[in-house]
Amino acid sequence: MRFGLMANAASVAAVLSLWSSSTGALAAGQDPLSPTGRFSTYATAAAPTPPMGWNPWNAFRTDVDEAKVRGSALALVDTGLAAKGYRYVNIDDGWALRRLDDGTLRIRDSMFPSSKVANSRTGSFKPFTNYLHGLGLKAGIYSDIGPNTCAQRWDAQSPNLPEGSVKERQVGSFGHAAKDIEQIFGTWRFDYIKIDACGVADYTPDVEPVKSGRFAAFSPYIIRNDIPASQPDKVEALYATLGDAIRQWGGPEAVLSICAWGEAMAPLWAGNRGNLSRTSPDIEFNWASMLTSIDSTVDGALYAGPGHWNDPDMLAVGHGDFDLAHPDGARAHVTMWAIMAAPLLLGFDLRGAPQPLVDLVGNPEMIAVDQDVAGNQGVPYRTGNTMTVVRTLAAPGARAVALFNRGDTATSATVTWAQLGFAPGSGATVRDVWARRPLEPATDRVTMTLKPRSAMLLTLTGVPADASATPLAEIPARVHIAVDGLTPRTALPRGKFPARVNAMPDGAPIERGGRPASGIGLFANSRVEVRADGLFKRFKAIPIATGNSPVRYRVYADRALVAESATGKAIDADVRGARVIELVALASSGSGRPPMIAWSDAKLTR
Ligand code: GLA
Repeated sequence: MRFGLMANAASVAAVLSLWSSSTGALAAGQDPLSPTGRFSTYATAAAPTPPMGWNPWNAFRTDVDEAKVRGSALALVDTGLAAKGYRYVNIDDGWALRRLDDGTLRIRDSMFPSSKVANSRTGSFKPFTNYLHGLGLKAGIYSDIGPNTCAQRWDAQSPNLPEGSVKERQVGSFGHAAKDIEQIFGTWRFDYIKIDACGVADYTPDVEPVKSGRFAAFSPYIIRNDIPASQPDKVEALYATLGDAIRQWGGPEAVLSICAWGEAMAPLWAGNRGNLSRTSPDIEFNWASMLTSIDSTVDGALYAGPGHWNDPDMLAVGHGDFDLAHPDGARAHVTMWAIMAAPLLLGFDLRGAPQPLVDLVGNPEMIAVDQDVAGNQGVPYRTGNTMTVVRTLAAPGARAVALFNRGDTATSATVTWAQLGFAPGSGATVRDVWARRPLEPATDRVTMTLKPRSAMLLTLTGVPADASATPLAEIPARVHIAVDGLTPRTALPRGKFPARVNAMPDGAPIERGGRPASGIGLFANSRVEVRADGLFKRFKAIPIATGNSPVRYRVYADRALVAESATGKAIDADVRGARVIELVALASSGSGRPPMIAWSDAKLTR
């Protein structure tokens, strides 16, 4: 009761229980800040590493047909890309012709001729998925959480829009989740689904397609770029229902790709509900758009890990600023996706694809970085127009580094031993991933010259600064932000993550006593789950907070309270054998955002 915090904690819990998103792991009414003993992400059997494959959208939009898809599937195999991991062939918007009166979906058989089967009103994708499975590939498909899809709203000139009455054209899953998923996974045997969200965002009564009577109005759950006006809990609930059905009909390895573009507080809940979470609007084939995708993703390391990845969108390689004539741009694009542990979904016509592009996306060392089994998304450091992104790899002392020049003039970029977590003065081997050759070994830092709009991708192996300690900053994949202290009203804007590695939520460095410190920055009234898997003995940290309001910190090991602390007071807790460690920070926040805090120098020791 020193700060009167018991009463405050209770009222915080009351406020938070009104806002019950992200509490999928909790029983109704349970305080979201009380420990659960669980690492509550969606499922790790599906997408243990970021999915790789091909999707026709960037090449063809809805002007796609079965020959194009089968041709590209075959090309994945023939080029050797499939053997390198590109195994998902995902059809996108455009395949659904109409919803029949019994609620089932009818396939557009002019697009997928093999779907025509005798005595079937719906047609069947079984011949198509059998074909892909026969090639050793996986099959993916597309839907929407709302009544209608994105192309119906945004590709009005498409030759392949659903047909029939307003109701028959409602090919999105709203009100049909269980049956659609049964049909798609149970009957047709798909392995992967991308589920879009235009149906709950873009069919407001005031827009022409609705006013004209062509579509029914949908009072939106997502107001784009306006989280306070959106209804995140409703968006989450739709994906939750779909996710449950997908596990039921598709099994534990079925992949759910959430496509809510980082809206509606998706970073808070998407990792609990699906395997991928789109972070940005659709990528366009120009540099500025790719930067938007990067900037909406690169600070999200605490929101990615095995089974739940940030998705900056499909690759635009082969198009516009990333085509054959722009090899530096294409390489920079792929570099950044690999360092961000992003899905690698190719989007160019693979039939007769130019060999340099096949070689680019097939570089085995780049793929090894993207697919590294530790699943840590890289952590960025910005200097002017350059960005240095450091990704801790699974092998001892191994790191991947992207040095990225977003600007139009040549410059240089540096990675330091402090950023890499290497012992000062120690040496490290350095490898150029794209050139696939070693560079000079280095000590203390590596600096590279970068052409305009280009990137280098390096791997280094060095000596960790403290062999007995694992900083949380180096294992973001083992950290899950279960409760972030924000509400729809106090949420950060789309594209901003409330919790960051080695930075406060506003991007400022974590500082203790005027010196930069490593750690995890977020807001109070938060609960962080750390997947320790019984590997560690002690948890150490010095919690800090901005402002003067008192904050209490609690550490739990498999739900047992093992430490309590106050701002600035070091924690050294016994977590021996714990599978899940939970870090809770409690403050009184009134109606605004809680104070920013950091678990500075947070580390686990063996
Ligand atoms: C949305 C998605 C895209 C694509 C289209 C299809 O815009 O974000 O990736 O699937 O819909 O209409």
